[in-house]
Amino acid sequence: MVNETISLIMGRRSIRTFKPEQIEEEKLRIILDAAQYAPNGGGRQLWHFTVVQNQHMIEQMVKGMIDIMSNSALARYQQKAADPNYHTFYHAPTVIVVSGVENAKGIEMDCAAATENMIIAAESLELSSCWIGSAELILVKEEIKKALGIPEGYKPFHAVSLGYNSSRTAVKPAPRKENIVNYVR
Ligand SMILES: Cc1cc2nc3c(=O)[nH]c(=O)nc-3n(C[C@H](O)[C@H](O)[C@H](O)COP(=O)(O)O)c2cc1C
Repeated sequence: MVNETISLIMGRRSIRTFKPEQIEEEKLRIILDAAQYAPNGGGRQLWHFTVVQNQHMIEQMVKGMIDIMSNSALARYQQKAADPNYHTFYHAPTVIVVSGVENAKGIEMDCAAATENMIIAAESLELSSCWIGSAELILVKEEIKKALGIPEGYKPFHAVSLGYNSSRTAVKPAPRKENIVNYVR
């Protein structure tokens, strides 16, 4: 009973190695369409997507992340910021920022559903992706929101890195946890 869709979902992995080659416009359009067909509370579609393909803008966000993390009290942030190879978006040529109407009930869940749709759509188009939740640290800065053109009243929650995988080494999934289902029948 494992069909193509199920295999795709189970075979997808977060990829953190990207080629500089840009993704095709047609694929980008399909991914954005898929996002907008995700389930969302009340069917209100209170989300917004910002496609960032300007490499200078992406580097500006990474620099901002490094500044924030190096000044953080968290040791793991400081360690990441000190790593010369650190790049929030793993050098992906496309970053999509997912925002939602601030304070709308359940908006973060709506945005997560849209993001998962994008990731699955990307996988089906032979693209690789990585959900970048940590980017919220920089995305919520007013100057960044403005530079990205995120509409007034919307809050960016996270981003997705998209592109072609530059590595041939297969990423293995972590073993699945056991005993996480119970049945009431
Ligand atoms: C809400 C959320 C936030 C995440 N944030 C990051 C992130 O900031 N950076 C990163 O490299 N991966 C991030 N990931 C990817 C997870 O690390 C990844 O999904 C997890 O390790 C499972 O691996 P898989 O996606 O290959 O199955 C995030 C995933 C989710 C769902």
